[in-house]
Amino acid sequence: MRYLPLDEIEEGMFLARSVFGEDGRTLLARGVKLTKNYLRELKALNYTHLFVGDRPEEVEVNGISEQTYSQVLRSVRGVFLSAAKNQNLDFKEVLDVVDFMVDEVLNADVMYNMLDIKNHDNYTYLHSVKVGIIALIMGKNLGLARKQLKELTVGALLHDIGKMCIENTILKKRGHLTYQEYEKMRDHPKYGFEILRGAPGVNLLSAHVAYQHHEREDGSGYPRGLNGDQIHLYAKIVMAADSYDAMTLGRSYRRTLWNHEALAQLAAEAPEKYDPKMIKLLAQSVASYPVGSVVLLNNLEVGLVTAVTRSSVEIEFLTGADKGQRVTIRANDLLKVERRLS
Ligand SMILES: [Fe+2]
Repeated sequence: MRYLPLDEIEEGMFLARSVFGEDGRTLLARGVKLTKNYLRELKALNYTHLFVGDRPEEVEVNGISEQTYSQVLRSVRGVFLSAAKNQNLDFKEVLDVVDFMVDEVLNADVMYNMLDIKNHDNYTYLHSVKVGIIALIMGKNLGLARKQLKELTVGALLHDIGKMCIENTILKKRGHLTYQEYEKMRDHPKYGFEILRGAPGVNLLSAHVAYQHHEREDGSGYPRGLNGDQIHLYAKIVMAADSYDAMTLGRSYRRTLWNHEALAQLAAEAPEKYDPKMIKLLAQSVASYPVGSVVLLNNLEVGLVTAVTRSSVEIEFLTGADKGQRVTIRANDLLKVERRLS
């Protein structure tokens, strides 16, 4: 399986991971043989990259099945849209699907390991779902109990729901916001808290995740300027996951960082902005070189990342005498990943 820019994908390759629309519907299912028409349509929808392989494969890199992933996406989109229209909110579907997410993640040895199949329109929901999965894996690695994992994940999935109370002109603006627009934007954690507090089935701590996810360790965050111990553990987890994903998903006005660069950047900003324990936890929970990355090794050969666990990376050599062979690299091995190429 490789993660390739659309322009480099040829007819006849197989889709190795399904492409979902922003409403969670499957646009193109895993295993499909790509035709010229499919590729043209995906390009028209602004998709930039796909996972492809020479034959259909079964991969569930995050420990979350595609079915659950699609359900999370759909349910999160549902409540966000209801919030935007100021309708009565029903969180039942989100709460139900979080049960599946927790089950699946508890039963797998996973690192967050996904490169984005994205276009320009699905940022908000994709981002929410990704932050939900990353926070859940972090919570699992921290040893949180099932009930706590649920509260954390609900808060993480819905942390930005308050954005639905912000005017679309500000929300969808490309480029920098004016001071006044920025001030309005800074109200979204408070709106989120108001939406979630007291909602049936939603724990107050999940509401506090929305309220606190832009606070920072040194008190420089918003809306209340809380610091250190005043910030709840769940919010500390979600703020690390949120910043990490924002750095790697990339918006038009910011350079997209690769996964390992984002981890380094966050480590550099701790302890002022982030709790160093949370950044360490994040580094143990997300893959520096996700499956599908092409990397340069320290023996100057090029390799494709084919699997990642918490303690190892599996590489398939793309060059050299061992071309086509796979090798598992662990922390103390002489063979190391030097840097990512694509
Ligand atoms: Fe936010």
